[in-house]
Formats: sequence, structure tokens, C-alpha cells
Amino acid sequence: MEKKGDGMSLFATKSVKSIIAESEGAEVKLKRTLGPGNLIALGIGAIIGAGLFSLTGVAAAQNAGSAIALSMVVAAIGCAFAGLCYSEFSCMIPVAGSAYTYAYTTLGEWLAWIIGWDLVLEYAVGASTVSISWSAYVVSILHDFGIDLPAQLVAGPFEDLKLPDGRLIHGMFNLPAVIIIFLISALLIIGIQESARTNAVIVVVKLLVVVTFIGIGWAYIDRANYTPFIPPNTGKFGEFGISGIMAGAGTIFFAYIGFDAVSTAAQEARRPQKDMPIGIIGSLLICTVLYVLFSIVLTGMVHYTNLGVAAPVAVAIDRTPYLWLNKLVKFGIIAGFTSVILVMLLGQSRVFYSMSRDGLVPRVFSAIHPKFQTPWRSNMLFFVFVAPFSAFLPLKVVGHMTSIGTLFAFVIVCAGVWVMRRKNPDAPRPFRTPLVPLVPILGMVWNFAMMYSLGIDNWLRLLVWLVIGQIIFFAYSRKHSHLRQKNAVMARE
Ligand code: ALA
Repeated sequence: MEKKGDGMSLFATKSVKSIIAESEGAEVKLKRTLGPGNLIALGIGAIIGAGLFSLTGVAAAQNAGSAIALSMVVAAIGCAFAGLCYSEFSCMIPVAGSAYTYAYTTLGEWLAWIIGWDLVLEYAVGASTVSISWSAYVVSILHDFGIDLPAQLVAGPFEDLKLPDGRLIHGMFNLPAVIIIFLISALLIIGIQESARTNAVIVVVKLLVVVTFIGIGWAYIDRANYTPFIPPNTGKFGEFGISGIMAGAGTIFFAYIGFDAVSTAAQEARRPQKDMPIGIIGSLLICTVLYVLFSIVLTGMVHYTNLGVAAPVAVAIDRTPYLWLNKLVKFGIIAGFTSVILVMLLGQSRVFYSMSRDGLVPRVFSAIHPKFQTPWRSNMLFFVFVAPFSAFLPLKVVGHMTSIGTLFAFVIVCAGVWVMRRKNPDAPRPFRTPLVPLVPILGMVWNFAMMYSLGIDNWLRLLVWLVIGQIIFFAYSRKHSHLRQKNAVMARE
């Protein structure tokens, strides 16, 4: 039941039943084609990317030293709390839209809007972040083959980009980043099944790169590099010691973003009740194990003081006799980044699909292509939105915007599970988050602490983004909200 008598309220909620009925009754539906394997692959496809291959070294060098492996665990714990909450929701409400839809059923339309708008930071801006890293690796590998693209065309105007091969470049327009966003948007228009297949192939390549690195690197660990395992704090918060482990977790959090993207595909899952938790928790678990092993090997092969570079893996491979691996690994990494962008853009279009069906954003975002059955116009519009971010903004700015936006979404989802348990304790829950309210509370506190570690500039950016969202909400969404219109009619009758 919709909350009665408050149809005009900012906090009017939609019932789970009505959301599911609406999605089932749609004339042109998204296709239910994804199984548990596809969903885990979708998660890994979104998770392993620029965070692991670019940020691990930087966080070890600047924050945590060898204890970056512990930062990995700290970040994973925050994600696990959120993952358990996402799992409960995603099988209770197995429709596209993810955290946005969950907020609509628990916290009301206004907070749902805030979270939907915030998810643009995670998915669209996240895709942009990875496209910029993708571009840096492509430029570097082309350089390895003797091809040098004009420096003005490979980085944005605010970026002094240090390429993986050590060159420092100043740019004007990041063309490769825009090209990859264009190509992935086109792929998404063609179809989810094709996209899932492409993703599965890339995930295999990506896992091979990580496992090969761990396997080969293990033999080249120098135990002396681990002493001291937790370097003493320099006297400044976040520079080594315990606070360094926390700050390292805040930075490395980016590497875990993506497991929640699985939940955006709930409407395309064959058996969402069973398979959503498998996809979310499974992909998170596999990546956590790989990340911890990867960190141990990386900081064992190279002293952490030498890891503050964009391509720490290349530095580590240089310590082995297998130099030919470097090019291969770069190819794998480029492929890996590609799948992250794919899942991020997929998630973005699915969130706006749901928002559009609720009337909060224009109908064009839920227009489904008659042949491909994908929200093709939405994909095209998001290409137009994401491309300027990729072309002009620096990596660090978009990366931190992505992290703070995602953490904010996690906090709201954790709160939502708790609220829903109180408001609607008897609703069927095929998967139950354990120890409610302890797990949701720990999820909120843990993820808020990571938000805190991202600093004032990023809080301000988040605030500006949310203010823009409020203007759109009160100027457009509130007037066009289907729930509000329906409730207004009911109130008149
Ligand atoms: N977790 C994704 C990455 O590291 C966003 O690229």
C-alpha cells in the first residue's frame, strides 16, 4: 500500500507489490536472461579495474605501506555490510533501479530522488573515471609499439598526467577516453545479452592477469620489504600507522565499487530471488581474496616507497625475468577497464530507466528499442553527459566524486534495510541481512567513516551535485511524479 493521505508528501512511498506489478505489466520489458554465473561475472566485471591496477600502489606509498593489505580488508568490511543490505533488497524488489528503488519503498520519493541523482556520481562519473585511466594505459601501450598520439589529445586541460611509462603530459581533450565511452554506449544499445557475453570474456582475461601476477610474483617476494609491516605514523593523520590504514582504505575503496551494480540488473535476472545475493556477495568475496593476495605480492616484490606510480604492476614485473609479461598485462588491464565502463554505464541507464518510469525524469530515459529491447535513447544521452567529464576533467577529481557518491548511496541503503524491517516486518524476504539492526548500523558508520576520510573538497562537490539535484526535483520531478499524480487523484475521489 502507498502511504495513505500523504500523496503530496515528500516522503510518500511506493509499495514493493506495486513496483513489481508495474515492472511485470510493462508492455516492452527488459529481457530476463542472466543466471548466477552471469551475475557474478557482471560484479567482477565492474569491480576489478582502475582501483586495483592504479590506486593500490599509490595508497601503499602514501598511506599504508605493506599494510595496504589491511586497508583492503577494512574497505571490504564496509562493502560487505552494504552488500548484505543490497542483497536483502535486491531479492525483495527484483526490478531495475537498485538503491533508488529501495529508497522509494522505504524512505519516500524525495530521498529516492536524492539517491537516484547521487547514483549518477557512482555510475556515470565512475565510468568517466575509468575511461580516463583506460586512456592512459592505451596511450602507454601504443607508445610501447612506437606510436605516440599528440599529447593535447590524450589528457584533459587540468591534467598533468603521468603515463605508466613515466612521461608527464599536459593535454586539452582526452580523445581516447571519449572514444571508449562511445563504443561501450553503442554496445549497450545493441543488447544486454551481447553485453553480458562481452563482459564474461573480459572477466576471464582480467582474472587471468590478476592470478598470473599473484602466481609469478609470489616467488619474487623479498620478506625484507615487509619490515615494518605497518610503517610508523609520520605525525600526520593518514600518513602510515593506524590512521594510514584507514586513509588507505578510503582511497582503495574505489577498487571495490561495482558489486552493487549487480543489483541494477535484477530485472534481467532469471531467478532474482536466489541469484542476486550470489552475484553480489560472490563477486565481492572473490575480489576481496584476490585484492589482499595482490597487495601482499605487490608490496613484497617492491618496497612500498617505490610504488607511488600509475602502473605499479609494471614496476613489479620489472623485478622479474618475465619482462614480456608487461605488454600482455597492459592488454589485460585495458580489457579489464573496458568491462568496468560497460557495467557502470549499464547500471546508469537502468537506474534512470526506473526513475523515468516513475515520472521523476523524462520518458525518454525509459524508451525501449523495439528490436534490441534496451533503453537506447538513455544510453545515447548518457554518452553525451559522460563524454565531457572524460574529455576535460582530471582523474583524481572524478575518482573521488565517484567514491563519495557511492559511499553515500551505501549509507542510505543500509538505513533503508533497517527502516523496511520496522515498517514492513512481515514482507517476504528470500534473503535476510543477518543481525539487523547491527549490520545496517555498522554499515552506515563504517561507510560514513570512509566518506569522512575523503576530505572537505569532495564533500563540497557532493553538496553542489545534490543541490543541482534539488533544483531539478522541485522544478520538474515533483510535478511529473506518477505517484504524486495517482495519489492526488485518489485524494480527490
Ligand atoms: N572498482 C572499479 C575500478 O576499480 C570502479 O575501476
